[in-house]
Amino acid sequence: MDKPLKLYFIPYLAAGHMIPLCDIAALFASRGHFVTIITTPLNAKILPKSNNFNVQTFQLPSQEVGLPEGIENITSITNIEDGFKLYQATALLHEHIEKFVEQHPPDCIVADFCLPWVDELANKHHIPRFAFNGFSLFTICAMESLKSQPLPENASGPFVIPNFPHDIIINSIPPIESKAFMDPLLTIALKSHGFIINSFVELDGDEYVEYYEKIIGHKAWHLGPASLVRKTTQEKAERGEKSTISVQKYLTWLNSKQDNSVLYISFGTICYLPDKQLFEIASAIEASGYDFIWVVPEKKGIENESEEEKEKWLPKGFEERNKGMIVRGWAPQVVILGHPALGAFLTHCGWNSVVEAVSAGVPMITWPVHSDQFYNEKLITQVRRIGVEVGVDEWNMAAFRDSKKLVKRDHIEKAVRRLMDDGDEAVQIRQRSQKFAKIARRVQEDGSSHENLTALIDELKRLRDSKVLN
Ligand SMILES: *[C@@H]1O[C@H](CO)[C@@H](O)[C@H](O)[C@H]1NC(C)=O
Ligand SMILES: *[C@@H]1O[C@H](CO)[C@@H](O)[C@H](O)[C@H]1NC(C)=O
Ligand SMILES: *[C@@H]1O[C@H](CO)[C@@H](O)[C@H](O)[C@H]1NC(C)=O
Ligand SMILES: *[C@@H]1O[C@H](CO)[C@@H](O)[C@H](O)[C@H]1NC(C)=O
Repeated sequence: MDKPLKLYFIPYLAAGHMIPLCDIAALFASRGHFVTIITTPLNAKILPKSNNFNVQTFQLPSQEVGLPEGIENITSITNIEDGFKLYQATALLHEHIEKFVEQHPPDCIVADFCLPWVDELANKHHIPRFAFNGFSLFTICAMESLKSQPLPENASGPFVIPNFPHDIIINSIPPIESKAFMDPLLTIALKSHGFIINSFVELDGDEYVEYYEKIIGHKAWHLGPASLVRKTTQEKAERGEKSTISVQKYLTWLNSKQDNSVLYISFGTICYLPDKQLFEIASAIEASGYDFIWVVPEKKGIENESEEEKEKWLPKGFEERNKGMIVRGWAPQVVILGHPALGAFLTHCGWNSVVEAVSAGVPMITWPVHSDQFYNEKLITQVRRIGVEVGVDEWNMAAFRDSKKLVKRDHIEKAVRRLMDDGDEAVQIRQRSQKFAKIARRVQEDGSSHENLTALIDELKRLRDSKVLN
């Protein structure tokens, strides 16, 4: 009678959405359920080899929306227009996926909220649907609470989240276009059976689980941190693209460093900071004098970049003078964060980076760029107090758009020192971070996330079996 469930997962075509959703899919598969990931051929290539699930691919209709062939995800896109074309192209997958679902109906579909058309598809075929977007529940609650608030056009400056469990002041009002894009997607997500969250209840907080259920009237299932499903260094290194530098090289370098002595800097897969800003970061690293691993976007990584080009973003002689690794391209972040040499993480506060840092107990220096990142920052610095802010108040519409304001080197240096100088504040923040890392590891073994997963599986079985009876 205990027949395994058949589940389909449809990630959005961006590494930051796909990697955690596939980790979550792997959690279901590890409990013996049949899991299929639905994606496009080039995206399927980066899925970890050691997976216990099936992959079903459909060709992305790029040409129909004017996208160059071979572009199948946000990582390969550097402007907002192509970002929208990609979004349109994914909508054209509707028909193909619907046909597949008709022929092979699953017990449940988990789809990214950037694929709102899955709602209609699932309803039509009476299949329970769950939404995912890779945000924290704290952030979803903040966005929901702002949904009903009309924003003054072109307004800027700090604002308080209305009717919220904590008094949270966000550094800057979101751009109107950003809210206009996000709000309808959130509204459609509310029609699903629930949100699947890559976090754990202790990190988001019971207040927000309750707020979401009682005030927003929807259910959230905390199944994370999803990255902990990857246990070995090999499995961790296999998440995402192939690393540009061998994993062994990182480990050898990190092994030669003292505990808590290395600063790690990464802005995720799709943030391109302007040259002038990179120059300020480099100057701050140099002034602080700490060892570092700095991931810069691939477009800076061109082997034959001229000296002249390079000096636009890196002070002359920087690499000779400083002890650190500059990484052009993809870095095995979970492996790096997990090393005891790590002292702090300067991050754009993308939720995957945050959960990975929390799971590793690494304190954060927060530098949000767009979207959910400004809310995540507050959960880190104000609510859980496991990081410090660099002090950004410019909210970009998308990661590709250049910021206008520059964060000056002395601001960056000051934030770095606050976490790396072993003073009282640094020690307390590190202790709190390590406490969360312990909880994170426990929740997946036999704590809240483990129980949420069991409860969700039971609910899905109930839904399936009641359908059979009808
Ligand atoms: C993104 O798509 C490109 C092709 O456009 C592929 O080469 C790459 O591996 C994909 N990367 C991720 C992170 O999805
Ligand atoms: C908002 O800014 C845009 C562009 O800067 C401008 O075209 C528009 O008139 C402004 N709207 C208001 C209400 O000030
Ligand atoms: C780098 O060099 C290669 C081979 O010489 C050339 O094909 C390529 O266009 C160069 N790239 C840039 C960005 O200059
Ligand atoms: C998830 O776990 C938390 C803590 O144990 C619990 O309060 C919550 O109700 C669970 N959520 C669901 C949807 O079962």
